[in-house]
Amino acid sequence: MMLSSSNLSRRRLLKQTFAFSASAMLGRSVMGQADALVPVAPGEHLLMIGDWGAKETKGQEAVASGMKKFLDEQKIKPGAMFLLGDNFYGSMKGGVKSERWKVQFSEMYPRSHFDCRCYAVLGNHDYGDDPKRSLEAQLGYAKENPGTRWTMPSKRYAFDYPTVNPLMRVVAVDSNWRDMKPEEIAEQNQWLEDELKRARSTPWVVVMGHHPLYSNGQHGDSEALIDAWGPLFEEHRVDFYFCGHDHDLQHMEFEGLKTSFVLSGGGGARVRELRKVRSGHYAKSVYGFTHLHVTAESFSVQHVDANRNRLHAFSKTLDGVVTIV
Ligand SMILES: [Fe+2]
Repeated sequence: MMLSSSNLSRRRLLKQTFAFSASAMLGRSVMGQADALVPVAPGEHLLMIGDWGAKETKGQEAVASGMKKFLDEQKIKPGAMFLLGDNFYGSMKGGVKSERWKVQFSEMYPRSHFDCRCYAVLGNHDYGDDPKRSLEAQLGYAKENPGTRWTMPSKRYAFDYPTVNPLMRVVAVDSNWRDMKPEEIAEQNQWLEDELKRARSTPWVVVMGHHPLYSNGQHGDSEALIDAWGPLFEEHRVDFYFCGHDHDLQHMEFEGLKTSFVLSGGGGARVRELRKVRSGHYAKSVYGFTHLHVTAESFSVQHVDANRNRLHAFSKTLDGVVTIV
């Protein structure tokens, strides 16, 4: 593959910075008593989970409980939650009135800890398990329940976060190509390109969807998404792609690619074995969630398991340098 000079210098940077560097991670970590005295760093804190809405709720309860304790211990009030699809497995009897909204959303993630908008995208189970009813419920819930934190204005949407002095542009996509007509896929790809082409007004640009482009998990890579979205991410310097679908936690960097690929699919559904993990990638089959800490200069990501052990963390600076903590 031909490498441009900027790619070459990026390769060099990646090599240099993939070394361990605890000092670069905002001076704080999740666990450890000494950290209790460190004031909470300024910036925005967000949480992210995927594949959380299984019918059997044991895993979901464990992760939700872990998140609540994590927020208490860290004295963090999240500004938003990203819900990465497979939000409701199985039947959605009752639609917007289903008991599952209370049991698996509003009471599972109570406002006492999650007093923020919850931005959701659709997963394959949201499409396939209870066709139409689940989709209609998820797309219509906020209209029926003004004031809800649940946010899914359409199958794809984009927003600035936070609304005042935004730090990131978030483009939420519908990756359920198996359930979409070719025209819908083409139309969305054009929309995504137009969204990414807009003059960059935020330090960070993030795309989130349910299916991974790359994954070391059971489902593996999606060649179709790599072909369609990969070049757009490169051309428009997408900083992060967040997704779920595989039931594990992953972080993937590829030499020469600008985007960091983060998979957070341990939100509740039964975890699954990994495939062979590619060298240099982080992947673990485990229940857990992802914490994001964003400032105008750096974007930090940490995968945390249901028992609040920090499993993997890294930060990225605006020049694209990634430092594993
Ligand atoms: Fe899925």
